[in-house]
Amino acid sequence: MPSPVSPGPQAATTTAPTPEPTPQGRATLPGAEPAALAAGRVTDTRVRTAPTVPSWVLKLVMAVTGTIFALFLLVHMFGNLKVFTGAEHFNEYAHWLHTILEPFLPWNGVLWILRVVLSISLVAHVVAAVLLKQRARRSRGRVPRKRLPLKTFAGRNMLVTGIVLFAFIVFHLLDLTVGTPGVAPASYTAGTTEASFAYQNLVASFQRPAAAAFYIVALLTLFLHLAHGLVTVVHDLGMTGRRTRAVAFAAGGALALAILLGNILIPVAVLTGVVK
Ligand code: HEM
Repeated sequence: MPSPVSPGPQAATTTAPTPEPTPQGRATLPGAEPAALAAGRVTDTRVRTAPTVPSWVLKLVMAVTGTIFALFLLVHMFGNLKVFTGAEHFNEYAHWLHTILEPFLPWNGVLWILRVVLSISLVAHVVAAVLLKQRARRSRGRVPRKRLPLKTFAGRNMLVTGIVLFAFIVFHLLDLTVGTPGVAPASYTAGTTEASFAYQNLVASFQRPAAAAFYIVALLTLFLHLAHGLVTVVHDLGMTGRRTRAVAFAAGGALALAILLGNILIPVAVLTGVVK
């Protein structure tokens, strides 16, 4: 049960005594200074009611959906790197994505399964993030502490980097998957059941400096989000062994770095004319 007591800045380093419920259903803080109560530095009323979905479930949802995204991004990056093997190979690969498991599944079958899984994961990830953020804010009470220790730049800005990434995903889908006029390059050519023009579309998109710059900024943002997110996954999945944690932290960092470097090479290669 969450503590109904929100300690003020002075109480930060001491362990709060367990509050005792009164007949009125409120709790009192033994030894609480009446002056501190009167000034609102501590409170003996609940800072929030007990939630229907426990916070650990929300954290688990964030960890699992975040890991699904990270794994998708790793596979997506390997696919993207095929751009360095030339137009023919890349377009063949992009076309093959639509045909995986045919005729067992229809055209685009695997892609649609992936789209549904990613969309559900995205919604669950965002809803859980918003709920946890709200709870954290309420739990901090009326006089929240400033400058909590052990917070990195990436950790403090997860919500901001998440919003940038969401905007990027919308832009990216309109740019390269849907080919929306005004977002996609003017020369965008939609794929058919016979052939894909993914290479030409990608190169034309990245030849626009503003679009390439947005991809680069989004990939740097993604690195920050992933690097902190994957560290959090280790905590949220309850990994406690020293060696397991060390391996998990290293794997998370390596994954975030690989996704950054593997992807960022592509807009840079187009901008510098290595890929054309
Ligand atoms: C430089 C980096 C990237 C490149 C070159 C790239 C390239 C592409 C291309 C060419 C497609 C369209 C494939 C097709 O329809 O033929 C695509 C689709 C997609 N990309 Fe990326 N991508 C990059 C980064 C990202 C990132 C960072 C994310 C996620 C945060 C992402 C998520 C997606 C998604 C969800 C699809 C849609 C798959 C589908 O439903 O068809 N991509 N990407």
